Amino acid sequence: MAKSNGKTVLITGSTDGVGRVVAKRLGEGGWRVLVHGRDRGRGERVVAEINDAGGGSAEFLAADLSSLADVRRLADAVQKTTKRLDLLVNNAGIGSGGPQGTRQTSADGYELRFAVNYLAGFLLTHLLLPLIRKSAPARIVNVSSLGQQAIDFTDVMLTHGYSGSRAYCQSKLAQIMFTVDLAHELEGTGVTVNALHPATYMNTTMVRQSGATPMSSVEEGADAILNLATSADMEERSGLYFNGQREARADEQAYDAEARQHLKTLSLELAGLSSKKSTSAGRPRG
Ligand SMILES: NC(=O)c1ccc[n+]([C@@H]2O[C@H](COP(=O)([O-])OP(=O)(O)OC[C@H]3O[C@@H](n4cnc5c(N)ncnc54)[C@H](OP(=O)(O)O)[C@@H]3O)[C@@H](O)[C@H]2O)c1
Repeated sequence: MAKSNGKTVLITGSTDGVGRVVAKRLGEGGWRVLVHGRDRGRGERVVAEINDAGGGSAEFLAADLSSLADVRRLADAVQKTTKRLDLLVNNAGIGSGGPQGTRQTSADGYELRFAVNYLAGFLLTHLLLPLIRKSAPARIVNVSSLGQQAIDFTDVMLTHGYSGSRAYCQSKLAQIMFTVDLAHELEGTGVTVNALHPATYMNTTMVRQSGATPMSSVEEGADAILNLATSADMEERSGLYFNGQREARADEQAYDAEARQHLKTLSLELAGLSSKKSTSAGRPRG
Protein backbone atom coordinates (compact mmCIF):
# COMPACT_ATOMS: atom_id res chain seq x y z
CA MET A 1 0.00 0.00 0.00
CA ALA A 2 1.31 3.45 -0.98
CA LYS A 3 1.72 6.27 1.54
CA SER A 4 0.15 9.67 0.86
CA ASN A 5 1.90 11.27 -2.11
CA GLY A 6 0.81 14.79 -1.18
CA LYS A 7 -1.17 15.21 -4.40
CA THR A 8 -4.87 16.03 -4.78
CA VAL A 9 -7.26 15.05 -7.56
CA LEU A 10 -10.85 15.97 -8.33
CA ILE A 11 -12.70 13.41 -10.44
CA THR A 12 -16.16 14.46 -11.51
CA GLY A 13 -18.64 11.59 -11.72
CA SER A 14 -16.63 9.29 -9.47
CA THR A 15 -19.61 7.82 -7.62
CA ASP A 16 -20.13 5.24 -10.38
CA GLY A 17 -18.70 3.66 -13.53
CA VAL A 18 -15.17 4.28 -14.73
CA GLY A 19 -14.75 7.41 -12.55
CA ARG A 20 -15.26 5.31 -9.44
CA VAL A 21 -12.52 2.88 -10.50
CA VAL A 22 -10.12 5.76 -11.27
CA ALA A 23 -10.88 7.27 -7.83
CA LYS A 24 -10.13 4.01 -6.05
CA ARG A 25 -6.96 3.36 -8.04
CA LEU A 26 -5.60 6.87 -7.33
CA GLY A 27 -6.55 6.46 -3.65
CA GLU A 28 -4.55 3.23 -3.56
CA GLY A 29 -1.67 5.15 -5.14
CA GLY A 30 -1.60 7.63 -2.23
CA TRP A 31 -3.63 10.51 -3.70
CA ARG A 32 -6.07 12.67 -1.79
CA VAL A 33 -9.22 12.10 -3.84
CA LEU A 34 -12.12 14.54 -4.09
CA VAL A 35 -14.98 12.27 -5.10
CA HIS A 36 -17.86 13.99 -6.90
CA GLY A 37 -21.37 13.07 -7.99
CA ARG A 38 -24.96 13.88 -7.16
CA ASP A 39 -25.76 10.97 -4.88
CA ARG A 40 -24.36 11.39 -1.38
CA GLY A 41 -24.96 7.76 -0.41
CA ARG A 42 -22.97 6.44 -3.39
CA GLY A 43 -20.33 9.13 -2.85
CA GLU A 44 -19.81 8.32 0.82
CA ARG A 45 -19.46 4.60 -0.02
CA VAL A 46 -16.61 5.35 -2.47
CA VAL A 47 -15.01 7.64 0.14
CA ALA A 48 -15.22 4.90 2.79
CA GLU A 49 -13.68 2.35 0.42
CA ILE A 50 -10.74 4.67 -0.32
CA ASN A 51 -10.22 5.65 3.33
CA ASP A 52 -10.51 2.02 4.54
CA ALA A 53 -7.97 0.85 1.96
CA GLY A 54 -5.34 3.21 3.39
CA GLY A 55 -2.73 4.99 1.31
CA GLY A 56 -4.52 8.12 0.20
CA SER A 57 -7.67 9.68 1.57
CA ALA A 58 -11.00 10.87 0.19
CA GLU A 59 -13.82 13.34 0.67
CA PHE A 60 -17.14 13.67 -1.13
CA LEU A 61 -18.38 16.86 -2.80
CA ALA A 62 -21.94 16.85 -4.14
CA ALA A 63 -23.03 18.93 -7.13
CA ASP A 64 -25.50 18.58 -9.95
CA LEU A 65 -23.66 19.56 -13.12
CA SER A 66 -26.93 20.27 -14.90
CA SER A 67 -26.93 23.60 -13.04
CA LEU A 68 -24.17 26.17 -13.61
CA ALA A 69 -24.86 27.60 -10.14
CA ASP A 70 -24.07 24.17 -8.72
CA VAL A 71 -20.88 24.01 -10.81
CA ARG A 72 -19.83 27.32 -9.24
CA ARG A 73 -20.67 25.95 -5.76
CA LEU A 74 -18.54 22.88 -6.50
CA ALA A 75 -15.58 25.05 -7.55
CA ASP A 76 -15.97 27.06 -4.31
CA ALA A 77 -16.14 23.86 -2.24
CA VAL A 78 -12.97 22.53 -3.90
CA GLN A 79 -11.14 25.77 -3.18
CA LYS A 80 -12.24 25.64 0.48
CA THR A 81 -11.20 21.98 0.78
CA THR A 82 -7.74 22.02 -0.78
CA LYS A 83 -4.80 24.36 -1.27
CA ARG A 84 -3.62 22.42 -4.35
CA LEU A 85 -5.11 20.55 -7.29
CA ASP A 86 -2.61 18.44 -9.19
CA LEU A 87 -5.15 16.68 -11.37
CA LEU A 88 -8.66 17.41 -12.61
CA VAL A 89 -10.53 14.64 -14.41
CA ASN A 90 -13.68 15.91 -16.13
CA ASN A 91 -15.42 12.56 -16.33
CA ALA A 92 -19.07 13.03 -15.28
CA GLY A 93 -21.48 12.51 -18.09
CA ILE A 94 -24.81 11.25 -19.28
CA GLY A 95 -25.34 8.90 -22.19
CA SER A 96 -27.44 9.39 -25.28
CA GLY A 97 -30.65 8.18 -23.63
CA GLY A 98 -31.08 5.86 -26.62
CA PRO A 99 -30.48 6.72 -30.30
CA GLN A 100 -33.54 8.98 -30.59
CA GLY A 101 -34.14 10.05 -26.99
CA THR A 102 -36.10 13.07 -25.89
CA ARG A 103 -34.61 16.56 -25.88
CA GLN A 104 -34.13 17.78 -22.30
CA THR A 105 -32.81 21.04 -20.93
CA SER A 106 -30.58 21.98 -18.01
CA ALA A 107 -31.50 24.25 -15.11
CA ASP A 108 -30.14 27.11 -17.25
CA GLY A 109 -32.28 26.19 -20.25
CA TYR A 110 -29.48 24.66 -22.34
CA GLU A 111 -29.65 21.33 -24.17
CA LEU A 112 -28.91 18.87 -21.37
CA ARG A 113 -26.06 16.79 -22.83
CA PHE A 114 -24.21 19.89 -24.05
CA ALA A 115 -24.69 21.37 -20.56
CA VAL A 116 -23.66 18.39 -18.42
CA ASN A 117 -21.08 16.65 -20.62
CA TYR A 118 -19.32 19.77 -21.88
CA LEU A 119 -20.31 23.19 -20.53
CA ALA A 120 -20.14 22.19 -16.85
CA GLY A 121 -16.56 20.91 -17.29
CA PHE A 122 -15.67 24.02 -19.29
CA LEU A 123 -16.85 26.28 -16.46
CA LEU A 124 -15.43 24.10 -13.67
CA THR A 125 -12.02 24.01 -15.35
CA HIS A 126 -11.95 27.80 -15.81
CA LEU A 127 -12.93 28.38 -12.19
CA LEU A 128 -10.29 25.96 -10.91
CA LEU A 129 -7.50 27.03 -13.28
CA PRO A 130 -5.83 29.46 -10.83
CA LEU A 131 -5.55 26.64 -8.27
CA ILE A 132 -4.38 24.14 -10.90
CA ARG A 133 -1.77 26.57 -12.30
CA LYS A 134 -0.49 27.21 -8.78
CA SER A 135 -0.04 23.44 -8.38
CA ALA A 136 1.98 22.94 -11.60
CA PRO A 137 3.18 20.53 -12.83
CA ALA A 138 -0.49 19.58 -13.07
CA ARG A 139 -2.78 17.82 -15.51
CA ILE A 140 -6.34 18.03 -16.79
CA VAL A 141 -7.98 15.02 -18.42
CA ASN A 142 -11.25 15.35 -20.32
CA VAL A 143 -13.12 12.06 -20.67
CA SER A 144 -14.68 12.30 -24.11
CA SER A 145 -15.69 9.55 -26.54
CA LEU A 146 -15.15 8.02 -29.95
CA GLY A 147 -18.73 9.09 -30.60
CA GLN A 148 -18.24 12.61 -32.04
CA GLN A 149 -20.35 14.78 -34.30
CA ALA A 150 -19.57 18.21 -35.75
CA ILE A 151 -21.40 21.07 -34.07
CA ASP A 152 -23.90 23.01 -36.19
CA PHE A 153 -23.36 26.54 -34.92
CA THR A 154 -26.76 27.64 -36.20
CA ASP A 155 -28.45 25.27 -33.74
CA VAL A 156 -26.10 24.26 -30.93
CA MET A 157 -29.06 23.64 -28.61
CA LEU A 158 -30.52 21.13 -31.09
CA THR A 159 -33.97 22.68 -31.22
CA HIS A 160 -34.46 21.02 -34.63
CA GLY A 161 -33.77 17.43 -35.61
CA TYR A 162 -32.86 16.34 -32.07
CA SER A 163 -31.52 12.86 -31.52
CA GLY A 164 -29.94 11.51 -28.34
CA SER A 165 -26.87 10.25 -30.16
CA ARG A 166 -26.34 13.60 -31.94
CA ALA A 167 -26.64 15.42 -28.60
CA TYR A 168 -24.16 13.05 -26.94
CA CYS A 169 -21.71 13.10 -29.86
CA GLN A 170 -21.62 16.91 -30.26
CA SER A 171 -21.04 17.31 -26.50
CA LYS A 172 -18.13 14.86 -26.67
CA LEU A 173 -16.53 16.66 -29.64
CA ALA A 174 -16.96 19.97 -27.80
CA GLN A 175 -14.83 18.54 -24.97
CA ILE A 176 -12.05 17.73 -27.45
CA MET A 177 -12.24 21.19 -29.10
CA PHE A 178 -11.96 22.73 -25.62
CA THR A 179 -8.95 20.50 -24.91
CA VAL A 180 -7.07 21.64 -28.03
CA ASP A 181 -7.76 25.32 -27.28
CA LEU A 182 -6.93 25.15 -23.60
CA ALA A 183 -3.64 23.38 -24.34
CA HIS A 184 -2.58 26.40 -26.45
CA GLU A 185 -3.56 28.78 -23.65
CA LEU A 186 -1.63 26.75 -21.08
CA GLU A 187 1.59 26.44 -23.09
CA GLY A 188 4.58 27.06 -20.83
CA THR A 189 2.59 26.93 -17.59
CA GLY A 190 3.42 23.33 -16.62
CA VAL A 191 -0.27 22.39 -16.90
CA THR A 192 -1.22 19.89 -19.61
CA VAL A 193 -4.67 18.97 -20.88
CA ASN A 194 -5.63 15.93 -22.95
CA ALA A 195 -8.84 14.16 -23.94
CA LEU A 196 -9.69 10.54 -24.58
CA HIS A 197 -12.14 7.84 -25.47
CA PRO A 198 -11.59 5.54 -22.48
CA ALA A 199 -12.93 2.25 -23.92
CA THR A 200 -15.88 1.09 -26.00
CA TYR A 201 -19.13 0.14 -24.26
CA MET A 202 -17.71 -0.39 -20.82
CA ASN A 203 -20.00 -2.22 -18.45
CA THR A 204 -21.44 0.88 -16.74
CA THR A 205 -24.82 2.32 -15.79
CA MET A 206 -24.69 4.62 -18.83
CA VAL A 207 -24.18 1.75 -21.26
CA ARG A 208 -26.68 -0.55 -19.59
CA GLN A 209 -29.33 2.21 -19.62
CA SER A 210 -28.78 2.82 -23.34
CA GLY A 211 -29.61 -0.82 -24.04
CA ALA A 212 -26.16 -1.53 -25.56
CA THR A 213 -24.31 -4.74 -24.81
CA PRO A 214 -21.15 -4.05 -22.76
CA MET A 215 -17.97 -4.86 -24.73
CA SER A 216 -15.17 -3.80 -22.41
CA SER A 217 -14.43 -3.47 -18.72
CA VAL A 218 -14.25 -0.35 -16.57
CA GLU A 219 -10.69 -1.41 -15.68
CA GLU A 220 -9.65 -1.00 -19.33
CA GLY A 221 -11.17 2.49 -19.44
CA ALA A 222 -9.58 3.38 -16.09
CA ASP A 223 -6.15 2.27 -17.39
CA ALA A 224 -6.54 4.64 -20.35
CA ILE A 225 -7.58 7.57 -18.13
CA LEU A 226 -4.71 6.87 -15.71
CA ASN A 227 -2.26 6.80 -18.61
CA LEU A 228 -3.11 10.42 -19.44
CA ALA A 229 -3.41 11.38 -15.77
CA THR A 230 -0.23 9.94 -14.32
CA SER A 231 2.14 8.31 -16.82
CA ALA A 232 5.63 9.76 -17.19
CA ASP A 233 5.23 9.50 -21.00
CA MET A 234 2.52 12.16 -20.89
CA GLU A 235 4.49 14.65 -18.80
CA GLU A 236 5.10 17.20 -21.55
CA ARG A 237 2.29 16.24 -23.93
CA SER A 238 -0.81 18.39 -24.27
CA GLY A 239 -3.76 19.15 -26.55
CA LEU A 240 -4.05 15.55 -27.72
CA TYR A 241 -6.87 13.08 -28.22
CA PHE A 242 -6.39 9.41 -27.36
CA ASN A 243 -8.43 6.36 -28.27
CA GLY A 244 -7.73 4.18 -25.22
CA GLN A 245 -3.97 4.35 -24.76
CA ARG A 246 -3.17 5.34 -28.36
CA GLU A 247 -2.97 8.85 -29.73
CA ALA A 248 -5.66 9.24 -32.38
CA ARG A 249 -7.29 11.78 -34.65
CA ALA A 250 -10.59 13.28 -33.54
CA ASP A 251 -13.38 14.55 -35.79
CA GLU A 252 -12.06 17.15 -38.29
CA GLN A 253 -13.91 19.99 -36.55
CA ALA A 254 -11.51 19.65 -33.61
CA TYR A 255 -8.70 20.92 -35.87
CA ASP A 256 -10.70 23.83 -37.30
CA ALA A 257 -9.42 26.91 -35.45
CA GLU A 258 -12.39 29.01 -36.54
CA ALA A 259 -14.90 26.46 -35.24
CA ARG A 260 -13.00 26.23 -31.96
CA GLN A 261 -13.02 30.01 -31.59
CA HIS A 262 -16.76 30.02 -32.26
CA LEU A 263 -17.33 27.38 -29.59
CA LYS A 264 -15.09 29.17 -27.12
CA THR A 265 -16.83 32.54 -27.54
CA LEU A 266 -20.23 30.88 -27.21
CA SER A 267 -19.17 28.82 -24.18
CA LEU A 268 -17.74 31.80 -22.31
CA GLU A 269 -21.01 33.57 -22.89
CA LEU A 270 -23.27 30.61 -21.95
CA ALA A 271 -21.21 29.90 -18.83
CA GLY A 272 -21.43 33.52 -17.70
CA LEU A 273 -17.67 34.06 -18.07
CA SER A 274 -17.99 36.77 -20.68
CA SER A 275 -19.38 40.27 -20.22
CA LYS A 276 -20.71 40.26 -23.79
CA LYS A 277 -24.49 40.40 -24.29
CA SER A 278 -25.91 37.32 -25.99
CA THR A 279 -26.62 37.59 -29.70
CA SER A 280 -25.55 34.06 -30.47
CA ALA A 281 -27.41 31.41 -32.42
CA GLY A 282 -26.41 28.98 -29.68
CA ARG A 283 -28.79 30.55 -27.20
CA PRO A 284 -31.91 28.52 -26.54
CA ARG A 285 -34.93 29.97 -28.27
CA GLY A 286 -37.47 29.73 -25.50
N1 LIG B 1 -19.29 3.70 -20.73
C1 LIG B 1 -18.65 3.79 -21.87
O1 LIG B 1 -18.48 2.80 -22.59
C2 LIG B 1 -18.06 5.11 -22.31
C3 LIG B 1 -17.51 5.18 -23.60
C4 LIG B 1 -16.95 6.40 -24.00
C5 LIG B 1 -16.94 7.47 -23.13
N2 LIG B 1 -17.50 7.36 -21.89
C6 LIG B 1 -17.48 8.52 -21.01
O2 LIG B 1 -16.96 8.15 -19.75
C7 LIG B 1 -17.52 8.99 -18.73
C8 LIG B 1 -18.03 8.12 -17.59
O3 LIG B 1 -19.02 7.26 -18.10
P1 LIG B 1 -19.54 5.96 -17.33
O4 LIG B 1 -19.90 4.99 -18.37
O5 LIG B 1 -18.59 5.60 -16.24
O6 LIG B 1 -20.90 6.54 -16.71
P2 LIG B 1 -21.77 6.13 -15.43
O7 LIG B 1 -21.39 4.81 -14.88
O8 LIG B 1 -23.19 6.35 -15.84
O9 LIG B 1 -21.34 7.24 -14.36
C9 LIG B 1 -21.59 8.58 -14.62
C10 LIG B 1 -21.07 9.43 -13.47
O10 LIG B 1 -21.39 10.80 -13.79
C11 LIG B 1 -22.15 11.34 -12.76
N3 LIG B 1 -23.17 12.27 -13.26
C12 LIG B 1 -24.07 12.07 -14.24
N4 LIG B 1 -24.86 13.15 -14.40
C13 LIG B 1 -24.45 14.06 -13.50
C14 LIG B 1 -24.86 15.36 -13.14
N5 LIG B 1 -25.91 15.96 -13.74
N6 LIG B 1 -24.23 15.99 -12.15
C15 LIG B 1 -23.20 15.41 -11.51
N7 LIG B 1 -22.74 14.18 -11.79
C16 LIG B 1 -23.37 13.51 -12.77
C17 LIG B 1 -22.82 10.17 -12.05
O11 LIG B 1 -23.06 10.54 -10.71
P3 LIG B 1 -24.41 10.18 -9.87
O12 LIG B 1 -23.96 9.33 -8.74
O13 LIG B 1 -24.87 11.49 -9.41
O14 LIG B 1 -25.36 9.50 -10.81
C18 LIG B 1 -21.74 9.11 -12.15
O15 LIG B 1 -20.80 9.23 -11.12
C19 LIG B 1 -18.61 9.82 -19.42
O16 LIG B 1 -18.13 11.10 -19.69
C20 LIG B 1 -18.87 9.06 -20.71
O17 LIG B 1 -19.35 9.90 -21.74
C21 LIG B 1 -18.06 6.21 -21.46
